Amino acid sequence: MISLNESLKQTAQALVAPGKGILAADESHPTIKKRFDKFSIADTEENRRAYRDMLFSTPGISRYISGVILFDETIRQKHSNGAPFPKFLADNGIIPGIKVDAGTVALPNFPGEKITEGLDGLRERFAEYAKLGARFAKWRAVFTISDHTPSEYCIHANAHALARYAALAQEASLVPIVEPEVLRDGQHDIARCYDVTTHVLDRVFRELHDYRIQFEGMLLKPSMVTAGEDASDAPVQQVAELTLRCLRDTVPAAVPGIVFLSGGQSSEAATAHLNAMNKLGNIRWQLSFSYGRALQDAPMHTWMGKTDKVGAAQKAFARRAELNSLARTGKYSGE
Ligand code: 13P
Repeated sequence: MISLNESLKQTAQALVAPGKGILAADESHPTIKKRFDKFSIADTEENRRAYRDMLFSTPGISRYISGVILFDETIRQKHSNGAPFPKFLADNGIIPGIKVDAGTVALPNFPGEKITEGLDGLRERFAEYAKLGARFAKWRAVFTISDHTPSEYCIHANAHALARYAALAQEASLVPIVEPEVLRDGQHDIARCYDVTTHVLDRVFRELHDYRIQFEGMLLKPSMVTAGEDASDAPVQQVAELTLRCLRDTVPAAVPGIVFLSGGQSSEAATAHLNAMNKLGNIRWQLSFSYGRALQDAPMHTWMGKTDKVGAAQKAFARRAELNSLARTGKYSGE
């Protein structure tokens, strides 16, 4: 029997401490360019650094944010006070994390499906990231809903990669965040999303179990059960009930927390859905957030790459973080 790594358990619990959630600021180069392009912000290395600097320096943000997921470039950059970002965050009571997957590529022989790359050399990369100050990690797999997808093979291949990543993360004493994202693209209804998400999570947890992952020392980052982006929205209450039902059927009680991605929902919808779930009560895990866009859309739009907008952008970020913190206890009552 492998003994339980207490420090993994403590870090996982700290990441989902009451009232707190995670900021996903780990956009890869192509993704941050896409986000910046939307607001005509020049995608330069200094702008990427200044933007993250603005977010991380937000006064009082550690009241709501427990951890930040960084990208490879960002973990090596410095705050304007000269401290490397991981040290700056840790000094301010925020746990630094790192995205370690290398993104998705087409899955050969399975048109329209993706496999996540990045396992080669991962043990060595974990050792380096641990030295740079990372205490947790993230790996994202994606599943596309259509009439004939996701295929069993795509689910199996991605679940296997997630499990091998999680094992390597725990070996390096980093808490793995396991992110199987069922994409919202498509016209499917919420019932189809429920069926696919339940099946995917069931397979992912079987694989994690077979790879001897310590459930107490990991977090799950799933998508919510919603209707497809091109279908009409399901009511908030239905999203909350079906998401919880799906999680109850698939996620072991030993997992300390579930931290949702926002997946292109509006910032308001992501907060309302989390709130409705926590309001239902009788939940065996901490139910929290690890949002990218739902936390960043407002501050990025305010910032626009301008130094004189830093204060206003930080206010916009703090506001979204506070509202999501309220949603952790079901006390959010609208904007
Ligand atoms: P979104 O909340 O924008 O979906 O980003 C979360 C994330 O980390 C995706 O990998």
